[in-house]
Amino acid sequence: MNCRSCFSETVPIVDFGKMPIANNFLKNPALDTYRFNLAAEFCETCSLLQLSEQPDPELMFHDHYAFFTGLSTFMAKHFKEMALTNLPLTYSQDFMVSEIGCNDGTLLSSIADLGIRHLGIDPSQNVVESARSKGVTAEVAFFSELTAREMIKKYSQADLILAANVICHIPDINDFARGIKTFLKQDGKFVFEEPYIGSMIEKVSYDQLYDEHVFIFGALSVQSIFNKHGLTLVACEPQVTHGGSMRYTIMHKDAAVISESVGKILLQEKELGLDNIETYLNFGENCAIRKNELVQLLKHLNQKGRKVAGYAATSKSTTVLNFCNIDSSLISYISDSTKEKIGTFTPGSNIPVISHEEMRLNPPDYLVLFAWNHENEILAKESGVLDSNVKWIRFVPKVEIVQ
Ligand code: TMP
Ligand code: ZN
Repeated sequence: MNCRSCFSETVPIVDFGKMPIANNFLKNPALDTYRFNLAAEFCETCSLLQLSEQPDPELMFHDHYAFFTGLSTFMAKHFKEMALTNLPLTYSQDFMVSEIGCNDGTLLSSIADLGIRHLGIDPSQNVVESARSKGVTAEVAFFSELTAREMIKKYSQADLILAANVICHIPDINDFARGIKTFLKQDGKFVFEEPYIGSMIEKVSYDQLYDEHVFIFGALSVQSIFNKHGLTLVACEPQVTHGGSMRYTIMHKDAAVISESVGKILLQEKELGLDNIETYLNFGENCAIRKNELVQLLKHLNQKGRKVAGYAATSKSTTVLNFCNIDSSLISYISDSTKEKIGTFTPGSNIPVISHEEMRLNPPDYLVLFAWNHENEILAKESGVLDSNVKWIRFVPKVEIVQ
């Protein structure tokens, strides 16, 4: 295929086979018929890791999108910090903050509470309604150059544009970058954070790859994407969220003051071989090894008559369950806190989703932690309420029973 950013020929690195839509948790699994091939390719020219095929966005981001940011108290705190630390010490009355992919308004509500002009943009109607109910101004739209022009007409350009875990969802990355170029004021800042390629490679967290994540970025690829559009990377700050993320700050080239962090992270990425195809081919082999280890452990526990369930019906779990061919014979059910997911079945693998309360009433012997990126928060939360005989299984950064 050709790279979505620089159009060079890319190299296939891993193929997970046929996949359903990761978030297609349905009450009637017979309706879950759509499949696409989940595989990743690497661009040796701009170091961008990308999916070779992505379903139509309307199949993934729609009016019953089941993900609500505010459900994780840790993430809610994290986003408040992201919003507030990026505000300048003083700002004029017309200072405008925008968030792309505002979801339920968790981040923008801290800006709204300060009485600052703001605008959330998100393609899913249901989450936008939830944002509005928090007093956040929000519009239903996919962000693009065209959307940027429309928003400027209706509101204004933005001094600060924020985005968290959303740019990696947007396949036409050049149109997106032109949108930022248009929407951002001359001295404005665009701050976004995404799962980090360095962490995914290091931890072999292959479940970061699912339909919605068309790209996994690093500083090398981010710099290359925005440079083509008169923008530049001015800061990189590693984050612990989502099992390792990076926060990038982008400015117009002619207004940019570049922090030392950029050179440091770029150098580190080269030292780690994140610009080298061998690193990615090796990752592909590691995915197969991880699959084998998890399946062997689950089969072993099954043969010993142990009851195994899963904790958190995440989008990431769809990649794991389908790639490893795990169904309800190995994992009886998955418990989750999202109201919309309870009573549904996991896409492709048809494992029932129940509430955590129901799981705790009749707990399994083992719980596979699918929300491994929230391990500390979840283990702390469950330690007082979950039967202490239940053992946790993690599969990132390696397959093991948590001691
Ligand atoms: P995601 O990884 O696709 O964002 O999904 C996270 C899922 O994990 C979501 O369905 C809610 C669930 N979850 C819990 O059930 N308990 C928790 O403590 C957390 C943080 C998430
Ligand atoms: Zn490229």
